[in-house]
Amino acid sequence: MSTKTVLICQSKACRKLGAAKVLAAFLAYPVPGVTIIASPCLGQCGNGPMVLIEPDRFWYDRVNPDEVPAVIERHLKNDKPVLTMLYAKFHPKLK
Ligand code: FES
Repeated sequence: MSTKTVLICQSKACRKLGAAKVLAAFLAYPVPGVTIIASPCLGQCGNGPMVLIEPDRFWYDRVNPDEVPAVIERHLKNDKPVLTMLYAKFHPKLK
């Protein structure tokens, strides 16, 4: 199991789009070795809620709280990013 950090933007634009609920969804299912961080603006305002997973540097945009369990189960626990949810701007070939 690898150590990961999940940054969930809690700045203004993302909060308007429901980022607080996304943060709460991640905090509701703690995963050993994974740190959840309420992040300042990730520079992708308007595409939020934005989630960045480090050190992999995988970005998820417009994350819905209902989608968080899939990210936890597949990406955080099994190292398989959820390709359909990735941010196309930074992962154009993976989507
Ligand atoms: S407010 Fe979330 S990326 Fe800027």
